[in-house]
Amino acid sequence: MRIVLLGAPGSGKGTQGEKLVEKFGIPKISTGDALRAAVAAGTELGKQAKAAMDAGKLVANDIVIGIVEERLEQPDAVNGFILDGFPRNTAQAQVLDQLMAGHNQRPIDKAVHLAVDDEEIIRRLHERAVTEGRHDDKPEVIRHRIEVYNAETHPLLDYYQAQSKLVTVQGVGLVDEIFQRVLKALQ
Ligand code: AP5
Ligand code: MG
Repeated sequence: MRIVLLGAPGSGKGTQGEKLVEKFGIPKISTGDALRAAVAAGTELGKQAKAAMDAGKLVANDIVIGIVEERLEQPDAVNGFILDGFPRNTAQAQVLDQLMAGHNQRPIDKAVHLAVDDEEIIRRLHERAVTEGRHDDKPEVIRHRIEVYNAETHPLLDYYQAQSKLVTVQGVGLVDEIFQRVLKALQ
């Protein structure tokens, strides 16, 4: 199964993605997690990405595409994967389709959109700012991340709708309830 998780910042891509990992035994590929690891390790790539991440802007396409391309080549991703936070704009979605065609991979099966209203997103991320202190969970950065999502990533709903791959799941409620909705949508 090859799944793309779509949704605003804080919509639960990471949370639901982990549950899909447990259920299906396929890896989750999170560009956000990979970038944060690179920043923490102080690699060249991390240095290039840090300013954009801290400002809530998208990191350059060539950087994130490089991460995903390398990760998809690992043997554990051959039988399927869950993408969390990639693609994030139309150019990335087109490259992903090309990668799937070029690596003797099967195409993406489904794009799962976790629909969560802005008020709930802001509530969750403000809460996480206190508990985890993620650098981009500051009020003004949260606001900008939502704007970037609406401008750059939200159009991907149409992109996957046009391929008849889009399923939308209400992403508000208990984590396990939402997961049941996700599983139903994937059937
Ligand atoms: P990324 O790490 O992808 O962050 P994001 O999209 O802003 O999303 P989050 O990780 O904040 O939220 P999530 O949807 O995973 O929700 P979560 O499960 O954590 O990207 C970070 C940055 O990296 C970007 O801004 C950009 O700079 C860069 N980047 C990454 N990918 C890129 C790309 N492809 N191209 C360019 N740049 C890229 O849940 C959020 C919180 O809510 C948690 O505290 C969780 O516990 C809680 N929660 C989850 N579910 C529920 C629920 N049902 N009820 C209550 N609380 C819940
Ligand atoms: Mg996440």
